[in-house]
Amino acid sequence: MTDSKDIHSLAVGRLPTQIVGSRVFVYEEVGSTNERGLELDEDGAVIVADLQTAGRGRHGRSWHSMPGKGLWVTVVLRGNLPGLSFAIPLAIRDALAPLAPVQVKWPNDLLLDKKKLCGILVEQRGETIAAGFGINVNHEADDFPEDIQNIATSLRIVTGKSYDRSELLREILIGLDARVISLRNGGLANMRTEWTEACNIVGKTVTVGDMTGMVEGVDNEGGLVIDRDGTRHLVVFGDMITVEKD
Ligand code: BTN
Repeated sequence: MTDSKDIHSLAVGRLPTQIVGSRVFVYEEVGSTNERGLELDEDGAVIVADLQTAGRGRHGRSWHSMPGKGLWVTVVLRGNLPGLSFAIPLAIRDALAPLAPVQVKWPNDLLLDKKKLCGILVEQRGETIAAGFGINVNHEADDFPEDIQNIATSLRIVTGKSYDRSELLREILIGLDARVISLRNGGLANMRTEWTEACNIVGKTVTVGDMTGMVEGVDNEGGLVIDRDGTRHLVVFGDMITVEKD
């Protein structure tokens, strides 16, 4: 059983990375690791918290981040980095793939057993990017609030095993470092292709508001290019879509 106050269980040690993890700050408790990262404003810094008291989700929602169970992490990067929204889910998927068949889902989620395993929130303030992700690792079903128990899952719920959070985090940060280096060296197009394939959304029929169309492709920000009766429309990350044929 993980001690909820044991931040040593989140310590990643020295990382063989060039950018990501230049410094790693582990907190027992913060409001939001993304907020802490935006304040810190240091390229490559990683903020990890055992508990977030004001964890942020997309669309202004809150993110449930109880202690001892998950990975609540922000990687701080300076300067524009198109493709980061591809790099993060792919790095997490790669690290978790030996443990469970994790699926990348548009716009920026990772699913396991068709339920949400991981949420990603990239925020930018001026030149500072806070790339935050939350992964449900050792939760049991009743660790989640009742209203999300049927849509959220954890590695433990699906595999029946508990995991060392620091080992998972190490793998993720090492993989993310390689992907950030690749993006900074012109690797955007390849990563977009990799992400688009992982998402498996091209060719699917989707509905956005009152518009239904077919997904033709993905732009560099992860927006969906949709064809409706021969006219192209762009659906951005903030839009809510329904995938008709999944
Ligand atoms: C979503 O709504 O799916 C995105 C959730 C992102 C949650 C993570 S947890 C670490 C980081 N800090 C935050 O306040 N939010 C992100």
